[in-house]
Amino acid sequence: MQKCKINGIEIAFVDRGAGPLLLLVHGFPLDHSMWDAQIDVFAQRYRVIAVDLRGFGQSEVDANPPGGTADMELFADDLAALLDSLRIDGPIFLAGLSMGGYVAFQFALKYPRRLRGLILCDTRAMGDTPQVAAARRQTAQRVIADGPRSLVDSMMPRLFSEATLKRRPEMVDSLRRVMMETDRQTIAAVARGMARRPDVRPRLDEIGCATLVIVGQHDAISPVDEMRAIAAGIPRGRFVEIAASPYFSPAL
Ligand code: MLT
Repeated sequence: MQKCKINGIEIAFVDRGAGPLLLLVHGFPLDHSMWDAQIDVFAQRYRVIAVDLRGFGQSEVDANPPGGTADMELFADDLAALLDSLRIDGPIFLAGLSMGGYVAFQFALKYPRRLRGLILCDTRAMGDTPQVAAARRQTAQRVIADGPRSLVDSMMPRLFSEATLKRRPEMVDSLRRVMMETDRQTIAAVARGMARRPDVRPRLDEIGCATLVIVGQHDAISPVDEMRAIAAGIPRGRFVEIAASPYFSPAL
């Protein structure tokens, strides 16, 4: 992995392949390794950068996030600064999954000229309801006091279908390991940041670049209909629903 100091924090990232730039942004509380399979494929035709956002994976932890909160816009600013430090001026393709999508929305709205295309995977445009936001703030406190185990346990059945939990133990274990190793202050700061992220639905029509909106058929966190509405709200949005292979269908 490479490292680069930006906005006062050392950021780690994988940089592979050559061609148009594809920047990949992971979900919560994960790191760049969730994209390993995609990096292998896309690096054959693109220059792929898969970043560990500040505090995650091998990136430095922000010891003092303002108000103990890491906002999605801060991560978008880090991505812009990373591109600057790598002297990448031309417009790029940006893909974000789940929390990575929250960051990608902020990037698209703040740095529209830096984007050639946007890929939103299993994410949400609306902000948290007051109940969800309150639960996240409680989670933040609990993780600081006791570590991430209860958060991770509660997330597993939402990240994987029952069939995947049973049949792909190696994939499940590797994600679980990354989550368990994530710094607890980072988890807390980002949970608080997600709790107050803005509702971007009223601004979807400002996203001018070609945008692919992808959702897995059984996604429990980002419902299919909600993602279809995101694509409909973006002028050049295109919606793709990925059907689960029968092997991983919850019905089995
Ligand atoms: C993620 O996978 O990035 C998170 O589950 C997103 C969220 O909690 O809203």
